Amino acid sequence: MDLKEKIDKDILPKHIAVIMDGNGRWAKKKGNQRIFGHKNGVKAVRDTVEGAAEIGVKFLTLYAFSTENWSRPKQEVDALMSLLVSTINSETDTLIKNNVRLLTIGDINGLPKDVGKNLNELIKKTSNNTGLSLVLALNYSARWEIVNAVQQIVSEFEKTPFNIKEIDNEVFEKYLNTKNIPDPDLLIRTSGEFRISNFLIWQLAYTELYFTEVLWPDFRRDDLFNAIINYQKRERRFGKTSEQIKH
Ligand code: IPE
Ligand code: IPE
Ligand code: MG
Repeated sequence: MDLKEKIDKDILPKHIAVIMDGNGRWAKKKGNQRIFGHKNGVKAVRDTVEGAAEIGVKFLTLYAFSTENWSRPKQEVDALMSLLVSTINSETDTLIKNNVRLLTIGDINGLPKDVGKNLNELIKKTSNNTGLSLVLALNYSARWEIVNAVQQIVSEFEKTPFNIKEIDNEVFEKYLNTKNIPDPDLLIRTSGEFRISNFLIWQLAYTELYFTEVLWPDFRRDDLFNAIINYQKRERRFGKTSEQIKH
């Protein structure tokens, strides 16, 4: 039986987030430079996006570049940025054809000008698409996102003071980059690392976590489907007892 047929369409995760990790190790294993791994990671991105769209996942967030990744050797950072631009350009038609809407989270203003420009154009071109929303996390750091939210709230308070008791979870979330995006139901991290690496700290509060040894350039839609099948076997309790969930 096809893996896809094992997926229960009635309990699909609405939002899947992925920490795409292991490009460097994949390349090293093949005796190549790290950037060779990043280039091959694009194939995994393409297949994962197609797989998610095919089964009807609504949101797919991909962690593509963290704020901390600026600390890598300049040569690697530059190569990643130009790979980003060339990928945006080469994938534009496919994204439009597949009804994918592109969104970003992270400090996009802190990216090189040409990257920001290309991204904004593609965001505009796909803004009316109604299929999968593909969210790219770029120059993203969850702590930055939270501190940034606090700064915005305080600045509004300074202009027009209000009752601080009005700030609850729902209000706070409106100041995050992910406003209007539901929290991830499932987080996948590849390459056998078991950490969050400053990704969506607020939003992952009740997310199901799935870790796989597969290195990102080898990840394909069947790996995504396996993660979803695993997710569908779990019981999400949100603090309640198992009995309460079943009745
Ligand atoms: C993930 O792969 C891609 C980015 C973080 C940009 P890595 O480049 O982190 O690969 P490893 O973890 O060193 O193998
Ligand atoms: C996390 O991977 C960031 C991205 C996938 C973009 P890293 O490879 O940067 O994470 P650490 O440094 O191993 O935690
Ligand atoms: Mg890594």
